[in-house]
Amino acid sequence: MGNALTTKVTKINPSQIEDEDLEEAISIIKNHGIVGFPTETVYGLGASIYSNDAIKKIYDAKGRPQDNPLIVHISSLEMLEKLVVEISPNVLSLCSAFWPGPLTILFEKSPMISDIITAGLSTVAIRMPQNPIALRLIELIGHPLAAPSANISGKPSPTTAQHVLEDFQGKIPLILDGGPCQVGVESTVIDVNSNPPVILRPGGVNYERLVTFLPELQIYEKMKTDSELEAHPSTPGLKYRHYSPQAQVILLSLSSLAPLEMRIKVEKAFEEIFHNNTNIAYVHTRREFEVPDLIQNSLGDRLINLTINQNTSIQNLQQLQSHIAQKLFLTLRSLDEQKVEIIVIEGVTEQYEGLAIMNRLKKAAYLIK
Ligand code: TXA
Ligand code: MG
Repeated sequence: MGNALTTKVTKINPSQIEDEDLEEAISIIKNHGIVGFPTETVYGLGASIYSNDAIKKIYDAKGRPQDNPLIVHISSLEMLEKLVVEISPNVLSLCSAFWPGPLTILFEKSPMISDIITAGLSTVAIRMPQNPIALRLIELIGHPLAAPSANISGKPSPTTAQHVLEDFQGKIPLILDGGPCQVGVESTVIDVNSNPPVILRPGGVNYERLVTFLPELQIYEKMKTDSELEAHPSTPGLKYRHYSPQAQVILLSLSSLAPLEMRIKVEKAFEEIFHNNTNIAYVHTRREFEVPDLIQNSLGDRLINLTINQNTSIQNLQQLQSHIAQKLFLTLRSLDEQKVEIIVIEGVTEQYEGLAIMNRLKKAAYLIK
């Protein structure tokens, strides 16, 4: 028989939340269980910060390394005060500017935060999500939720309730389905106690917005080489391969290539994978570019062309990057579903959400060309 659960999925309209729709989730969480819930970035797997049992369940269910700490989610600034040693005026103004929203800030943790949440670190990562279902859930529970993204460790993060179900069917009792996530990539993780302040993980709040508040702001990955990073990972999440679909991802870094150079690059990339008898997807991001006929013809049915940017009303780069971010993980997961073995994806410029998109793609990639 085993002890598999039936995973229930409850649909909730984020613009018309009935508190009774949240009752079951609240009761599970208060009884040391874990629940999938929507945030504006990606779906989270939530546990009470007061239940070490539930937090252990999160690590188990995800297969998450024990040294990768969780983000604590709050619904009000009053909640913040109890979790941290101090809130400086600068940090408070950052919170007011970006919360609720996709910004996670590191604080010196108060002793009441369990070491399993922070993986033994002296800092705790905190954010106030913008999704009304997440906010109301936390508010009704009356205390914060520790929640990582609701995916099996290493897979692309979930941006729909269906993705959460794919990864956790039979392993968690309940998923709240609030529809597809608006942002589509995880929150930006920032350390403002270090000098200069640093973005540890680019995400939903872009560098361009943050730097107007923090003129000295640095971006972690750009400061160090990969080998240095691996030796001294100050954000443990950076150590592990992440966001990978089953298919092998080949990332084409295309910044500033002229159309002809781009064509040559794509032809070369395909030459190397050609001999394999595999199904390949070519994912277009922004460029007016068609896979050359030669490749198209010889692959025939084995090549799927997919365009992430299908919205023709997009006016500028910033809107375009947000749109691609929103669809990114969904695209990777849908190609797995179609049994694609190789995904060739066009890189984007590292501006606005493009920084987060390229960060995730580089980590997912098997090859970068
Ligand atoms: O948008 C998000 O942030 C989503 C939603 C569910 O809120 N959550 C999320 O959680 O992405 P997770 O666990 O997948 O990623 C948390 C990241 C990891 O890279 C982790 O290493 C980092 O935050 N982190 C957490 N606490 C930290 C700390 N004290 N110091 C440095 N990095 C920390
Ligand atoms: Mg994650």
